[in-house]
Amino acid sequence: MGDRNAQGPNPGKEAAGVAAADLILDGMIVGLGTGSTTAYTIAELGMRVNRGLGILAVVTSYQSQMLAIDAGIPLTTLAEHPVLDISIDGADQVDADMNVIKGGGAAHTREKVVSHSAKRFIVVADESKMTGQLDHFVPLEVLPYARELVTGTVTAMGGEPQIRLASKKDGPVISDNGNFIIDARFGVIDDPASLAKKLSTCAGIVEHGIFTNVDEVYVGMNDGSVEIRTLDQR
Ligand code: 5RP
Repeated sequence: MGDRNAQGPNPGKEAAGVAAADLILDGMIVGLGTGSTTAYTIAELGMRVNRGLGILAVVTSYQSQMLAIDAGIPLTTLAEHPVLDISIDGADQVDADMNVIKGGGAAHTREKVVSHSAKRFIVVADESKMTGQLDHFVPLEVLPYARELVTGTVTAMGGEPQIRLASKKDGPVISDNGNFIIDARFGVIDDPASLAKKLSTCAGIVEHGIFTNVDEVYVGMNDGSVEIRTLDQR
């Protein structure tokens, strides 16, 4: 994987990220996802907060925590606000049924918790993320103690597991929760819900990156326009 912290401007990501900020109304409790697309949402919300929008946000990573604090967005926690009005997050791949693979930034465990705590879950993505069927590797957050067990289990399931190595640190990526990330290739995923269920039962996997709970996708086009997809539009 390239250096995710050194990505250049992307009109599609910016368009989707900024457009989704329109969903956030005064008084809402908002989940803030992780990644470069959500960073545009956070920056836009910060400007609106500075103009008087009253919201509280729950972050999904150290990255979104730092961005939200820099932008001036007041933070809260799931302990204080267990039910969120909405969560906005990015994706690595989105299929025609709005199943999503996340975890390119190793933040999918908290992202999943936050998305399931929200009444409405919005994904923001540029058009390059859209596909008919998922075939992206599935990020798995794994207890370091269970690395060998999970590697064996994924291989027995027909997957190809690879530990994610850090780019500016020797050795493996360590997640915000102190765990390893194993990226598992399964080829074309015919039944994402079924694979998600199987991965959820594997001992040692803290969380996998398949999300089947997306309500709407804001797709940012390279020309700066945005298409909003819902399941009814299939
Ligand atoms: C982090 C994620 C990100 O939302 C996903 O990788 C998309 O990132 P980006 O918006 O930078 O393309 O799941 O764990």
